[in-house]
Amino acid sequence: WPAHAPLIHRINQLKREKNAVILAHNYQTPEIFHCVADVVGDSLALAAKAVDTTGDVIVMAGVHFMAETAKLLNPSKRVLIPDSRAGCSLAESITPNDVRLLRQKYPGVPVIAYVNTSAAVKAEVDICCTSGNVVEVIESLGVPRVICLPDEYLAQWAQTQTKVEIIAWKGHCEVHERFTAAEIRSFRAANPGVTVLAHPECPPEVIAEADFTGSTAGMSNYVGREKPAKVLLVTECSMSDNVAANHPATEFVRPCNLCPHMKRITLANILDALENDRIEVTIDADIADRARASVERMLAVKP
Ligand code: 13P
Ligand code: SF4
Repeated sequence: WPAHAPLIHRINQLKREKNAVILAHNYQTPEIFHCVADVVGDSLALAAKAVDTTGDVIVMAGVHFMAETAKLLNPSKRVLIPDSRAGCSLAESITPNDVRLLRQKYPGVPVIAYVNTSAAVKAEVDICCTSGNVVEVIESLGVPRVICLPDEYLAQWAQTQTKVEIIAWKGHCEVHERFTAAEIRSFRAANPGVTVLAHPECPPEVIAEADFTGSTAGMSNYVGREKPAKVLLVTECSMSDNVAANHPATEFVRPCNLCPHMKRITLANILDALENDRIEVTIDADIADRARASVERMLAVKP
């Protein structure tokens, strides 16, 4: 990417000068993922690795809830998000008051929040989870029934993996909910022998068409382990670009659903974040302590 070279060079220079690290989610564009990120991964890896970062400044190349999680786990560091509008339809789907009302409706039933929630929602729940550890988190509680919010489809997929009864919320990921079973079937018809990997944020009828379901790291590891000749990743567009760069022998069939929130992060605004020390993510102390406890309980179950 020759046009990106000066930005990449300057970002890497500033990282050293400011002792900054860049954490990038698997859905970031390849020039961010491969050329300036220090740590890459799924939401779980970014949360777990945020604890070990040695920099004074963390730049989150991802969405706002990921930056909040990094801040929760690194309260003394400056955490920057290059565009504060990088949100998430799941995080938007539920408020702290919704959680309080659910607790009234289901007294005594523990509440699990997907990390795709605001810190204020995390502060109201018992424990967090990601798509990489949801089943382990549910089963760690040792109860017959849990509330798992806000992603209805993640909860429905988890229900196929555990006997614990799951009460779901009706939030959806605006990227994964667009995939349809008919679309996957037509990709299979056009690409005989293709292996289909789906993210658990997809609707159940899409997951039913897949050969494997897992988090973004789960899908990436599957490609590395099984080395399929041809693969279709039913998830955000950039994921295929990033995984394909590491697996040249595998052919990638590419449906393309972009996450507009992830795509707000660019090399230009990462550079702006480092140069101008913005936009800082802050969390009220009262919320932060309770939200951190929910994330730390999750990391104790499966980091
Ligand atoms: P994971 O990377 O944890 O699988 O999450 C996907 C996602 O949509 C994050 O926004
Ligand atoms: Fe949220 Fe979906 Fe975008 Fe992930 S891909 S940040 S879950 S809207």
